[in-house]
Amino acid sequence: MRQYMLSNVLEEGYFDLHLHSTASDGIYSPRELVQKAHVAGLKTIAITDHDTLEGVEEARQAGLDYGVNVIAGVEISTKFKGRSIDILGYNIEANSELTGILSRLREGREERALRIIKKFNELEMPITINDVKEFSEGNIIARPHIARAIVKKGYVSDYQTVFDNFLADGKPCALDKVILSPEEGIALIHRSGGKAVLAHPLLIGDDKVVRELMEFSFDGIEVWHRKQNKDDNARYQQLANEFQVMMTGGSDFHNDKHSIGQFGLMWEVQNKSEAKDVHIVWQNTKVAMEDRNQLNGHKSFILWFTGLSGAGKSTLAVEVEKELFRRGIRCFLLDADNIRYGLNKNLRFSPEDRTENIRRIGEVSKLFVEAGIIPIVASISPYNADRAMVRSLVPKGNFIEIYVKCTIEECERRDPKGLYKKTRAGEIQSFTGISAPYEIPVNPEITVETDKLSISEALNTILQFLQKKGYLFDTGLVD
Ligand code: ADX
Repeated sequence: MRQYMLSNVLEEGYFDLHLHSTASDGIYSPRELVQKAHVAGLKTIAITDHDTLEGVEEARQAGLDYGVNVIAGVEISTKFKGRSIDILGYNIEANSELTGILSRLREGREERALRIIKKFNELEMPITINDVKEFSEGNIIARPHIARAIVKKGYVSDYQTVFDNFLADGKPCALDKVILSPEEGIALIHRSGGKAVLAHPLLIGDDKVVRELMEFSFDGIEVWHRKQNKDDNARYQQLANEFQVMMTGGSDFHNDKHSIGQFGLMWEVQNKSEAKDVHIVWQNTKVAMEDRNQLNGHKSFILWFTGLSGAGKSTLAVEVEKELFRRGIRCFLLDADNIRYGLNKNLRFSPEDRTENIRRIGEVSKLFVEAGIIPIVASISPYNADRAMVRSLVPKGNFIEIYVKCTIEECERRDPKGLYKKTRAGEIQSFTGISAPYEIPVNPEITVETDKLSISEALNTILQFLQKKGYLFDTGLVD
């Protein structure tokens, strides 16, 4: 198991071992989670709902459809010295003892929910169990569901404030539920054939307690977690080595406030480990991207145009480059056709070559971003996973995916390079949209429909987005 988890980190990379679905308090169904994981380019995920295995089967089925490996997991809440301690169980096999105890824990949650609701009623914020159940699709009632009901009633303006003032541990509405001790939780997981991992140690709030807990028979510790930073990762790695247990990581994904697969330095770990194998050491520099951004007076980020051949990617990208340049913004057009004349001249159009094409354009774009320049990429880039991979190369928010949307019929009618005609005549094989796939972006930052908008309207849509979201601020040149 240790080997398995680590090989995922260091060789395969892309995984997320801490995800919540609608079976507990996440907002996406198990199938949707798998789909999102696939889009994000993840190879392995674990569904770790609170006190239930109910989401696992659906996720497994979806995993077969999307080629994502799904580990059966669970997150069991326990209590130790007055603190909430969550334990992740992996490779769990459902059995009558486990399902019996989990269902008792769930009943305990419902009973606790009723007591919490009573508390809110006493505080003159009346809600009912039905108000709360409106937010819980599975059979788990957790504090997030209650928080959402309170916000919906308008008693408190936002979700986080409900937690901070009422529901967080030690606050007036944080009541205990029927609960196991960590030893009982670990033993239950072991009796179910699983491995027990101490979840998000940082959130326990005291490393001395974490150390005490590691004396129990944990098999692992969650070294990487969305809320744990570089220093935390290093500390918990050390602890894992000291106690000879495996290291795991996960985002603890619940909703769109965060992203699947984004936690700790996972991507960096993966990128650098590849270099490590061939004895290359990362050279640190003394000028950071932020310094260059300051010098230039604007941020640097990737503008990535994707869409069918003939949709208008290059046309729009050329106009965006011209307009940004006019405004004194440093940018550079990386048009896939041009790159295929040089850097990528040894690549053709097999799925593998297309992936390598995007990887190289992505890496070059990343260098541009680090250099403080905005790369404007125009490339079909037909696979969601490839675009997700590029997204992961730069800091969050620095990849702007622009879906240049146009029907295949219209693209073929335009046929600016005569390639559709050649494809129909059998002169070109595997042509995107005709004889090779194009995966429509799932969540692009911008969509422009070039069969409905003029070029200047499409250009404006893009510029307005950049302006509104603050990408162009600081230049002092925005008109
Ligand atoms: S990608 O699929 O690998 O992302 P990319 O954007 O770099 O493609 O290159 C696409 C360009 O190559 C098209 O604009 C078109 O001019 C040309 N091309 C030649 N053969 C093909 C093909 N089989 N499929 C798609 N584009 C092709």
